[in-house]
Amino acid sequence: MIEFQNVSKVYQGDVKAIDDINMTVNDGEFVILLGPSGCGKTTLLRMVNVLESITEGDIRVQGKSSKELNPIELRRNIGYVIQSNGLFPNMTIEDNTMIVPDLLGWDRKKKRNRFNYLMDLVGLNPDDYRKRFPHELSGGQQQRIGVIRAMASDPPVMLMDEPFGALDPIIRHRIQDEFLAIQQEVKKTILFVSHDIDEAIRMGDRIALIREGKIMQYDTPTEILTHPKNEFVSEFVGQDRVLKSMSLYSVQDLVDAFNLESSKQEVADTKMIHSDTSLRVAISMLLNQEADQIVIVDQQDNQLGSLTLNLIEKFLHREVKGKER
Ligand SMILES: Nc1ncnc2c1ncn2[C@@H]1O[C@H](COP(=O)(O)OP(=O)(O)O)[C@@H](O)[C@H]1O
Ligand SMILES: [Mg+2]
Repeated sequence: MIEFQNVSKVYQGDVKAIDDINMTVNDGEFVILLGPSGCGKTTLLRMVNVLESITEGDIRVQGKSSKELNPIELRRNIGYVIQSNGLFPNMTIEDNTMIVPDLLGWDRKKKRNRFNYLMDLVGLNPDDYRKRFPHELSGGQQQRIGVIRAMASDPPVMLMDEPFGALDPIIRHRIQDEFLAIQQEVKKTILFVSHDIDEAIRMGDRIALIREGKIMQYDTPTEILTHPKNEFVSEFVGQDRVLKSMSLYSVQDLVDAFNLESSKQEVADTKMIHSDTSLRVAISMLLNQEADQIVIVDQQDNQLGSLTLNLIEKFLHREVKGKER
């Protein structure tokens, strides 16, 4: 768990970068620090692992004030990933990855096992890459190494500062999915900096939207999209907010909202969609197949009603627009 208690940061020259922030990141939670450039995201992150001093307030990591963490505890407890992966050019991939375990005094066998395990996790063959140098890897591969280096000593907490920001969109998307799958397995407590709302929605359990060092809203992606607390939040989320929110809902949510009843009727020779499909996919099916309606079916292929663009629009209106203040 990470707890921010009335945290402020004033840089020399009287720049108030962080202004009285209170928030808690629970164990195993993936929290995105989101906001425009210069709003204080990096500063907040770097105070957690004491790369920046805290002017006022306290940050507690796993119950302990970050000011009290000694360097060994810090390395054990907190992994750190940055955009320019920070790999040492003259060290092999294995040596780069095992810097912290080395400092913690792990023996060779333990380090090798850990390296092999982590490389498998990110889909890189350990033997193929062990002796290579960073410049021999693609940008995406280097960034994967940056991530597993931060995970090397199995820290419960990870700090990630726009780790995928330098990658091209396709690779970035792939690494995001890959990292989410890893997180399902390892359940780290993660603070992840981003300025990209789509990345935040896709990755975060909760999003802290920051402006000029203050938290504007700290909520789940669904809440941020459906109940923006103020104008800044709704503007930051953007005008296609309704569209973005579609990927958060499934056809089942619509079935529930309109109490569509299951019938045992057989479905013959028409387009079908399973109720666990996302609304985003459902809409593109309707648009691409030029069908006016698609039959919704449950896992047992029982018919649940028919899906039309009109019904989706009604649903979104109720769920998203209807909740606007
Ligand atoms: N070392 C520093 N000295 C003085 N001001 C700084 C320093 N680092 C950051 N700042 C200022 O603090 C504010 C927040 O910066 P930063 O945390 O880097 O924002 P973000 O990561 O959201 O882009 C900005 O106004 C920035 O200019
Ligand atoms: Mg930054």
